[in-house]
Amino acid sequence: MTTRLPSTGAPDRSAPATTCRSDEVVVIHRLFRRLFAEAPRLVRRVGHGEIERARHLSKHLHGITALLHVHHRTEDDYFWDRMTERAPACGLHVELMRRQHGLVSDRLDVVDAIVDRWARDADAGTATRLAAELDEVDRLLTQHLADEERDAFPVLDAILSDAEWDDIHRHARRHRPPLPIFVLLGLMLESVPEAERDAWFEKEMPAPIRLAYRTVGRRQYERAVRRLRADRGVAPGAVPATA
Ligand SMILES: [Fe+2]
Repeated sequence: MTTRLPSTGAPDRSAPATTCRSDEVVVIHRLFRRLFAEAPRLVRRVGHGEIERARHLSKHLHGITALLHVHHRTEDDYFWDRMTERAPACGLHVELMRRQHGLVSDRLDVVDAIVDRWARDADAGTATRLAAELDEVDRLLTQHLADEERDAFPVLDAILSDAEWDDIHRHARRHRPPLPIFVLLGLMLESVPEAERDAWFEKEMPAPIRLAYRTVGRRQYERAVRRLRADRGVAPGAVPATA
């Protein structure tokens, strides 16, 4: 367990350990793990020539690749230089993180290019190539997220202040989400373990968003995933009971 720092000044070694701020990023990592594990399966379910389904799924695929690009760029902008300066002994880990981000980014670019080709004609051969590339993204990402959570996050929890973590979250929220906001929220809820879902929703979402999700957003999300996962029963993340 690492120690959370006060918002300003030098590390206070006497400060009590509370939660680690990197836990908030781990929730987002869970979302990425699910999205990229699912993506190749979704592509393989689309038949040769099913252009409308391919086009619809293509929008989702572009959305998740854009989302991952933004997430990694934020980490690149806020984590690695500070880790290099404040924890110079961790240089090899920083190097590994930068290299893994580069590898994932290159693969995402390949995926985006194939998605565009596939959306035009839903060709079976292109789908096979696309699914294989998505498998590779999933493999690289699974490895990277595990390495990052093990080798980088404990260090970042120790060297970044609360104010810096808040700034990172503010920066991340400034980007317009590349997926419809309530669809994204529903997918986030899916990726939070059921036992923690109510508490997460209550803590992370302001009351107006919770209300809007219950009244409008949840139906949008359910419709979207029903269409996306057209050939299997949808079990969307349960909506928390309280608002
Ligand atoms: Fe990362």
